Amino acid sequence: MRIHFATSEVFPFVKVGGLGDVAQALPKSLARRGHRVDLFLPRYTGLPAGRAVARLEVAAGTTKARFEVADQGDHDGVRYFTVGTAEQTTWERPEGYVEKNLASFVLFSRALAQLAVSPGWRPDAVHCNDWHVGHLPAHLRRLDAPCRTVLTIHNLAYQGLFPHSVADRLGLTGYGAGNLLAQGITHADAVTTVSDRYRDETLSPLHGCGLDGLLRSRGEDYTGVLNGVDYDHFHPGTDPHLPTRYDVGDMAGKAVCKAELQRASGLPVTPDLPLIAFVGRLVKQKGVELLLDSIDELATLDAQFVVVGTGERFERAFTRAARFYPNVAFHPDSAEPVARRAYAGSDLFLAPSEFEPCGLAPLIALRYGSVPVVRRVGGMAQTIADTGLGLSFTGARERLLGTLWDGIERYRCGQSWARLRDRAMRARFTWDEAAERYERLYRPVETDREKERVR
Ligand code: GLC
Repeated sequence: MRIHFATSEVFPFVKVGGLGDVAQALPKSLARRGHRVDLFLPRYTGLPAGRAVARLEVAAGTTKARFEVADQGDHDGVRYFTVGTAEQTTWERPEGYVEKNLASFVLFSRALAQLAVSPGWRPDAVHCNDWHVGHLPAHLRRLDAPCRTVLTIHNLAYQGLFPHSVADRLGLTGYGAGNLLAQGITHADAVTTVSDRYRDETLSPLHGCGLDGLLRSRGEDYTGVLNGVDYDHFHPGTDPHLPTRYDVGDMAGKAVCKAELQRASGLPVTPDLPLIAFVGRLVKQKGVELLLDSIDELATLDAQFVVVGTGERFERAFTRAARFYPNVAFHPDSAEPVARRAYAGSDLFLAPSEFEPCGLAPLIALRYGSVPVVRRVGGMAQTIADTGLGLSFTGARERLLGTLWDGIERYRCGQSWARLRDRAMRARFTWDEAAERYERLYRPVETDREKERVR
């Protein structure tokens, strides 16, 4: 099959969050299964120019632009392309999950739709990710494109809302609802999200972010497909970012990684104290408020804490906490090497998210032998709590503290801790399984009319 994969980020070109990892790994896995996959990324400022392979005149309402598609070469068997206006200078790389550059993303979607009906391209399926390309399935339908469309929701909280004035200017009236994600949900042949549990949650008003009714209306066309982990990249036995390597059966290196993390964090180098890490975007979704609200109590636990992440609003509070408590350290950093060293150097991995569509970080932590302590929501309920691969809690602060306390106790029981850690490291959430599920969604289903014709 020929698949077009449309995304706003892909690691290592541009990474804001988990979508960047997914966009790197899922197309790779599909390519390994014999498909031809072309990946399309906006041409943000600062990205290489690439080799121009197509030019398109794109119109959206009263806005018109000349677009260029540039070949960025082969990455793990996947062809990468950047797509942007020829004269573009203002499309900045995204720095957080914000609904910005709406008009640019509408034009990007239109360009990709036009490309999909151009001779020489014509994919069998177009896989769209998040609100940025929510307009794409809608416009492909308008162009009568003979391909299947799949929309994957990585985070329902961001929808690409636009006011009437924008709708008029970009010619969006007539595509349905006033937000780009809703357009995608309405018009894609199949809608997915990144775990079954989050799918179920989003069907209720509590987690549906106003779109639960629309999602319910898609019935069986809305499914959960659990993300995987790229174990070629996330591998403590080969990870180039670690001070030394280790793996199941050869764990001496983990102690070195821990000592190195303690040193780099300005913490006492004590092998026996459990080290608890948090790695993630410092935003409300990730449970950062709960973490800060509990910091006084957390700091009294017999453990060390290392927090890694960026997010304006919360950075100051963590800096203050790190200055005040001798067992709390903060790295205001979102670069990959720091994250990897935190996975490898920690014993427990804390993910107290308020909601979590999949939650890749705890899955990665497992591979590095850092036992996750998660709030029982979304994908983390499915992968960590239900499997017993880590510890979990619901709701409030007392529960978080109690569960961490439990984790620390377990850490002290050497033998059984080693067993828990080994089990975590051996667990696998592979992309192959997900790729197979998507493959099925890319294939055309027989419509009732076609079935009748055959009869
Ligand atoms: C978003 C979600 C996260 C998920 C990732 C990749 O960042 O918040 O839960 O793992 O997308 O799908």
